[in-house]
Amino acid sequence: MPSLLNNRLTKRALRPALTLIDRRIRLRVERAAEPLRSELAVLRREADEMRRGTDGLRGSQYALGLLLDGTGRGAHRIPPAWEIDELVVQISALNGDGATARRSVVAAYRTVVALEALGVGRLAGSTSNVCGKLATVPLLAPPNGSILEIGTLYGLFAAALTRMVHRAGIEPDLTIVDPLAGRQLQPGTSQPADPTGTPVREDVVRANLALTGAGSTHHPRIRQGFSADPEVRAEVTDREYGVIVVDGDHSMEGVAADLEWVEEIVAPGGIVVIDDYGDASWPGVQEALDKHLADGSSRLRLLGRVSTSAYLRAE
Ligand SMILES: C[S@@+](CC[C@H](N)C(=O)[O-])C[C@H]1O[C@@H](n2cnc3c(N)ncnc32)[C@H](O)[C@@H]1O
Repeated sequence: MPSLLNNRLTKRALRPALTLIDRRIRLRVERAAEPLRSELAVLRREADEMRRGTDGLRGSQYALGLLLDGTGRGAHRIPPAWEIDELVVQISALNGDGATARRSVVAAYRTVVALEALGVGRLAGSTSNVCGKLATVPLLAPPNGSILEIGTLYGLFAAALTRMVHRAGIEPDLTIVDPLAGRQLQPGTSQPADPTGTPVREDVVRANLALTGAGSTHHPRIRQGFSADPEVRAEVTDREYGVIVVDGDHSMEGVAADLEWVEEIVAPGGIVVIDDYGDASWPGVQEALDKHLADGSSRLRLLGRVSTSAYLRAE
């Protein structure tokens, strides 16, 4: 016997009731879905906003990269926070004051970025080591503003250092010794072409020093030649230097010879910076300083290390 529900008459009789039930169900589902629909619209708006935000961030990150990445200078100038924090800790260990160390590191970083943006050539070395040297020297209170840099390359580090010591109230009086031979010289190594493409020449160094007021507020002396040359030495051994940066010939013999000379020309209380100390690329630097200090006859006392530079004070 056919089921009652399959009966055509029964179907017709039930149709209005079924249509009503159907409409009610649809109405309930629509009502229930309404809050979900508006939530979805909100989510869509938020996703659009986020997409616009990340597009903007990507754009400004690109522009920041143009300002600070390593293109055309080798090292980038985008230090992570931990690197700056580490510098502050290392410098504080030398001067005992974290807040002053941080202020000095930040001022050094801004100086590096500004000078490399406007200068000819580059500063040599990692951001950490360069900022370390610039931030530490003024905080060690050198006894006078006579600065000798052995090995300057483009003169931009020297320019930055004059700025940093001036900020600390010390009027800079800069002497530079470098062969300025058109390219960087390093005995026993063949240096690749510089990433800047700029020649290592005296006119370049002068142009860079002029950025920091050289010629008006201070008058740097540039002695072209090798630091071991007796004529060069005779000429610049005319004062006691408050700061000496040893960054020329990086061989063991070269650094050892510079240290012997430094003993004679550094002022009592003067600060000596040995660049690239502990840098695996230049093992001769550490070897020379460690040997120099080994027998205790030196006037120089090791204060400590910041990044890849050693700091000493003369008795
Ligand atoms: C590492 S670069 C100096 C970088 C610079 N101080 C800076 O921080 O940007 C070394 C420089 O020392 C020069 N140099 C090499 N032998 C030297 C020597 N015996 N006396 C002086 N300078 C020397 C090189 O030609 C080069 O210009």
